[in-house]
Amino acid sequence: MFFMKETYITTAIPYVNGNPHLGHAMDYLLADVLRRYMLKQGARVRLQAGTDEHGSKIFKKAAEQGMPVQEFVDRHAQNFQDFIHSLGVEYTDFVRTTDPDHERRCQAIWTKLSDHIYKDNYEGWYCEGCESFVTDKEYADNNGICPDHQKAYVKLSEENYYLRISDFKAQIRAAIESDELKITPTFRKKEFLNLLADMPDVSISRPREQVEWGVTVPGDESQVMYVWIDALANYITVLGYPDQDISDAWPAHTQIVGKDILRFHAGIWPAMLLGLGLPLPKNLLAHGFITANGEKMSKSIGNVVDPAEILAKHGLAPFRYYFLRHASTTEDSDFSWDKYEASYNELANDLGNLVQRLATLCRKNALGGLQPASLELPEFDEYMQKYEFNKAFDLLWVEVQSLNKDIDEQKPWALAKSEPSQAKQVLASLSQRLLNLCDLLAIFIPDTAAQIQDIFTAAEISAPATPLFPKA
Ligand code: MSP
Repeated sequence: MFFMKETYITTAIPYVNGNPHLGHAMDYLLADVLRRYMLKQGARVRLQAGTDEHGSKIFKKAAEQGMPVQEFVDRHAQNFQDFIHSLGVEYTDFVRTTDPDHERRCQAIWTKLSDHIYKDNYEGWYCEGCESFVTDKEYADNNGICPDHQKAYVKLSEENYYLRISDFKAQIRAAIESDELKITPTFRKKEFLNLLADMPDVSISRPREQVEWGVTVPGDESQVMYVWIDALANYITVLGYPDQDISDAWPAHTQIVGKDILRFHAGIWPAMLLGLGLPLPKNLLAHGFITANGEKMSKSIGNVVDPAEILAKHGLAPFRYYFLRHASTTEDSDFSWDKYEASYNELANDLGNLVQRLATLCRKNALGGLQPASLELPEFDEYMQKYEFNKAFDLLWVEVQSLNKDIDEQKPWALAKSEPSQAKQVLASLSQRLLNLCDLLAIFIPDTAAQIQDIFTAAEISAPATPLFPKA
């Protein structure tokens, strides 16, 4: 019998120490675009999302707010699920790291890795913002302050368990160099391979007296797992590992992460997988950061943009349009209200007006009964396969613009007076092109594509009472 494996796409699980911010949207939007694209190819797609709920950062935040930690994470986990839905993104699996199944599976994973685990003293630095152990070199390079969080590193002196990364380094390097584990973009792959050379064994636990909010190390009540071990495991615990056979979904087709956490996913995570005897994911996509008015978004600078506010302004399609077309998939991209308004006007002028004009002309010429169709664009597929989603979207916009130009040039309104049947033909052909385009537009702005399809496949085409993107 024909058996098709699942196409498994994963997103990073955010810390639930606050509300979702704009930066968190990128993981989900990119995963959603890939999911919709793969579904169109006929794949069975599985998309995971979740929340990272352990660690010292969350523990301290809950204490600051005088709230029991579990109550604190429960509340935020719900906010994140609502947030993902508000972006028009549908996941198939959601994992919370405080879920007892996840915790139990993490412990089983730890036990399976025990040949590669040893105990040692850790004397060094830690960034609570990154929840990351920091080497002396990083400490010196950054003058003792985390560049991402603008917070001083804290000194740790404690006994921890370590994962012997050195057992797997050569294999990891070979997999990345040969693209068996393919890192996109290439410059990040190179950056990571440089890092890997000096990557020490990693500490994978913290003493419970330092951080009590975590998964207990099996057989040692005095230690809890380092939050990243518990977090990375989510990608397979959510599939049921090790209780269930996960070979239908694993290895993942693509794991999507922000550039700041690539090193965890390209270093510690492959080491864990190799230690477990599991295959490595096929692709790691590291996306860039969203900045606000050219600056890094940060709570301490006070310039964090609330995605709910942007969504409330013009709705979902303009949001997806901006972040999928005007934000680069792999480079940093900026958000400002001015740029956002310009992008909205572009969407309204190029696509909104096109729909309105064309549908109005169709109505005047009593056109209807067109069929939806699909569109094959080899160049589009090339961009999609290289994860250059914004460039793939640009290609669709070339067709939007060309449709506008063709209406202007072919002047079906003038033709209607002299050659009504020719006018009808011209309109039918333009409308059909727009319908075909909707097939691919649906990957980026699905609701809009569906609206346009409804308009142009009606028995009698007519323009919507309110334009798709009304002038503000
Ligand atoms: N909890 C870890 C991830 C564990 S995955 C096993 C974490 N959480 S986070 O909340 O800090 O980040 C979640 C995701 O959002 C990451 O992919 C991160 O790179 C991304 N972003 C956080 N700020 C961002 C921007 N300003 N712009 C784009 N993405 C950003 O790291």
